[in-house]
Amino acid sequence: RAARAEPPDGTEPIAGLRDEAKGCRRCPLWRNATQTVFGEGPEDAEVIFVGEQPGDQEDRAGKPFVGPAGRMLDATLEDADVDRQKVYVTNAVKHFKFEPRGKRRIHSKPNAGEVQACRWWLDKEIGRIKPNLAVALGATAAQSLLGRAVPVLKMRGEVIERNDGLRVFITIHPSLILRMREQEDKEAERERFLQDMRKVKRLM
Ligand code: URA
Repeated sequence: RAARAEPPDGTEPIAGLRDEAKGCRRCPLWRNATQTVFGEGPEDAEVIFVGEQPGDQEDRAGKPFVGPAGRMLDATLEDADVDRQKVYVTNAVKHFKFEPRGKRRIHSKPNAGEVQACRWWLDKEIGRIKPNLAVALGATAAQSLLGRAVPVLKMRGEVIERNDGLRVFITIHPSLILRMREQEDKEAERERFLQDMRKVKRLM
């Protein structure tokens, strides 16, 4: 294998981390998933967005946030005038966890042990990118970034600073908007999420 340029602080480039994570066996989720879905975006991103785990489409594509939740995120970032080139997108857990139901694969929430095991990779991504801001999309991401449970609906729009100085912005997961049944609720929630993304833009 070709030698990789090692920066002076010893952090590994994202491409190398992504390569290593392909063979990850830190928790059992690799067994049923198609592939590891690693984070994506510029290495010098100002902001890192952290979701929960890849969904069905991400598992097949090998890329984070390419399905319905990803389209919601992209559209809202665009409306908030957040430049995608300044954003790195990843997940707390990097394998799709699901229950088969007929031909469908139904998302199933990663447990605390799986989140903890996968923090290994999230920490390395943050160590390499050194973002100014992390955005926790939902409770699993907040749990992983802060190491404790956070009441997301109560704390959304707020910033919590970690001991290492990283500011963590709390918001909902975009799939919450997609799950709302009433059109009115959906639009109201989409508007609140847009307001959160406008705050992110100001914090960048
Ligand atoms: N939901 C997530 O949390 N992450 C993805 O990558 C896709 C959907």
